[in-house]
Amino acid sequence: MPLRLRLAVEDDSVRIGQITAAAFSDTVSRDVFPPHLSHKSETGDPFLDEVQWRAHRNVRRMREGKPTVVVVDIPDNGDGPEQVVGFAQWEPPTQGIQGSAEAEADQDKTPGCLDQDALREMLRVIDDETKRALGPDGHSKMWYLMMIAVDPKHHRRGIGKMLVQYGLDQAVKDGVDVYLIASPAGRLLYESLGFEQMREPVTLGATPHYSMIWKNPNKPATA
Ligand SMILES: CC(C)(COP(=O)(O)OP(=O)(O)OC[C@H]1O[C@@H](n2cnc3c(N)ncnc32)[C@H](O)[C@@H]1OP(=O)(O)O)[C@@H](O)C(=O)NCCC(=O)NCCS
Repeated sequence: MPLRLRLAVEDDSVRIGQITAAAFSDTVSRDVFPPHLSHKSETGDPFLDEVQWRAHRNVRRMREGKPTVVVVDIPDNGDGPEQVVGFAQWEPPTQGIQGSAEAEADQDKTPGCLDQDALREMLRVIDDETKRALGPDGHSKMWYLMMIAVDPKHHRRGIGKMLVQYGLDQAVKDGVDVYLIASPAGRLLYESLGFEQMREPVTLGATPHYSMIWKNPNKPATA
């Protein structure tokens, strides 16, 4: 079935939450929504709590001007609704001091089955790693890939590549580089697109993650 990339709208956010929770269920989602807190679920279903929390975060980010893009799968015969099968949350350069992921998360109401200490620690590692890799301004002068996931039923169809290519195209227009912190699965995708690993891995929850950069070949030389 044909695939198309478009900017996400707020109505896509629940589906984005579902894809995230499914795609990270064996890694960071399990660390942030651990089984021992599942009895504190507010909806009675910890997966649903996670979907709602992620959907809310996505809406907030979009309202802050941070674009989410989605890839939709369009039925061959044109009948039936398109289905969102993957998404990427991007942050454009701010040209100032990078915001803190840890402080940003404090704006969201968290469900009882979310381990707040584990989340805070993960976001602290992200903030620290970004500054170690790029210096005190972090990714403020680059395009930054905050999160990407593809519905596990649709892996290896080139969807991840389309979602990353969106950010590379923006970076080319703006004459800047692209930075991200890769999961082991993501690392293979980014390497295939020319990203380079910058440093030894850091651990998010129980999973190694890698600072990676895509150096824009046409970036204007700085003084
Ligand atoms: C990482 C992820 C987004 C990749 O999405 P995808 O749509 O399957 O990736 P693509 O089909 O665009 O892959 C493009 C290329 O990346 C590489 N690649 C992607 N997944 C790979 C895998 N599992 N094994 C080996 N190479 C892989 C290949 O070079 C592939 O090209 P090919 O299929 O022609 O060989 C997806 O696996 C995912 O959602 N994983 C869970 C969430 C996650 O870890 N996100 C990344 C956070 S940094």
